[in-house]
Amino acid sequence: MKFNRRHFLKTAGVTAAGILTSQLPLSTANAVQQKPANQHTVMGLIAPKMDIVRVGFIGVGQRGSGHVKHFCHLEGVEIKAICDTDAKVLDKSIEFVEFQGLAKPARYTGNEDAYKDLLSRNDIDIVIISTPWEWHAPMAIDTMESGKHAFVEVPLALTVEECWQIVDTAERTQKNCMMMENVNYGRDELMVLNMVRQGLFGELLHGEAAYIHELRWQMKEIDSKTGSWRTHWHTKRNGNLYPTHGLGPVSQYMNINRGDRFDYLTSMSSPALGRALYAEREFPKDHERNQLNYINGDMNTSLIKTVNGRTIMVQHDTTTPRPYSRHNLIQGTNGVFAGFPNRIAVEQGGSGNFHQWDMDMENWYAKYDHPLWLQMGKEAERNGGHGGMDFLMLWRMVYCLRNGEPLDQDVYDGAAWSVVNILSEESVNNRSNSVDFPDFTRGAWKTGKPLGIVGA
Ligand SMILES: NC(=O)c1ccc[n+]([C@@H]2O[C@H](COP(=O)([O-])OP(=O)(O)OC[C@H]3O[C@@H](n4cnc5c(N)ncnc54)[C@H](O)[C@@H]3O)[C@@H](O)[C@H]2O)c1
Repeated sequence: MKFNRRHFLKTAGVTAAGILTSQLPLSTANAVQQKPANQHTVMGLIAPKMDIVRVGFIGVGQRGSGHVKHFCHLEGVEIKAICDTDAKVLDKSIEFVEFQGLAKPARYTGNEDAYKDLLSRNDIDIVIISTPWEWHAPMAIDTMESGKHAFVEVPLALTVEECWQIVDTAERTQKNCMMMENVNYGRDELMVLNMVRQGLFGELLHGEAAYIHELRWQMKEIDSKTGSWRTHWHTKRNGNLYPTHGLGPVSQYMNINRGDRFDYLTSMSSPALGRALYAEREFPKDHERNQLNYINGDMNTSLIKTVNGRTIMVQHDTTTPRPYSRHNLIQGTNGVFAGFPNRIAVEQGGSGNFHQWDMDMENWYAKYDHPLWLQMGKEAERNGGHGGMDFLMLWRMVYCLRNGEPLDQDVYDGAAWSVVNILSEESVNNRSNSVDFPDFTRGAWKTGKPLGIVGA
């Protein structure tokens, strides 16, 4: 992939933390294409087995506090420390841990760099990062530099440069950097992966993925919580702001970075109307929400072509009034599965009538439920978090770390799925001309092993 200088100029310095991208001389951008001699691939990386996984948390707002709760119910873990700039949410999480009868975690707060003090501890193995988007890359990099494995909320990074820096840091330090794409652990997504692996759909041709989730109401979160920072992204970028939830599972079905990879993308955005209309309706005329210039098209649609010729449609819409959907569609030569609502049509291996959707999933679950779900699904549902997928993801991370197995998602996956955010913006701003994906694996995708159907 050729480095696009114009793109670098546009995206450099976009992060609030800023430092990482803005201080880079332009020449290093070309250098990232060559793997420096002191780096080795982290594809299939197996960290030395951990008897107990000692964990630190950075960011325990709406999402991170849920992760803390789940960790309190996981075996073989110790919560060592928690950091948040907001002392109120920090204390709530610390109190929750104590209330479970567990040791009180150390407390880090006071300024936005307090997380670095948490990272300087030598009794932490992994760090769970659930902060606003602009913090993900700097915190992940600092985590790995401090000798710990990074587990980062979605998306992994906000610029192409940040993606490369994260990949390079993981390869140099030989640490895991997993973007925690929880949707890969949903019952339906796991079942479809199992169906794909068993060849039910034949040769895969096309996938569809989306994050369609009406979130205008978050604009009412002014001083804290998700909407206090996420709303502003609608004034900064016009593209797919949040591509990974739908794309993660479709990428795993298609063996992206493990035999295939994203080649190029083209993207279009609809007009951006809904947020301004909502602000006009819901806030006083002189309110800050009515002064913002919302530029992100209400519906963004991107098309990805893979090197092996497959196609993927990815959509983003957190603004229009409509039911939630991640699409989750996979089409092969023998048939199709689609989600939201679940339906399936196959030529061989079903009723034979592929002109009609089969909407009854029970028989399909009975035959194709993923072994991981069969084993852990009940407990996952009991613990909750998006129908159990959150708990199952965290459980599986801990299982892999304790049993010396590679994680199901690696740094290359996180980078490839997240970079759609940036490339879609570039394509939208350039009359939907196609934009090449960087190959973050530097060729290792050709020999990468497809994700197996794992059980524990
Ligand atoms: N995977 C999912 O299903 C899912 C769901 C919701 C949110 N998320 C992701 O989780 C992340 C957090 O979202 P949220 O909804 O919890 O937002 P939030 O605003 O509720 O929480 C973010 C927390 O980070 C803290 N913070 C900010 N800067 C910090 C710093 N420098 N040091 C320490 N703490 C800092 C804030 O005080 C806040 O408590 C986002 O990346 C979001 O995309 C993922």
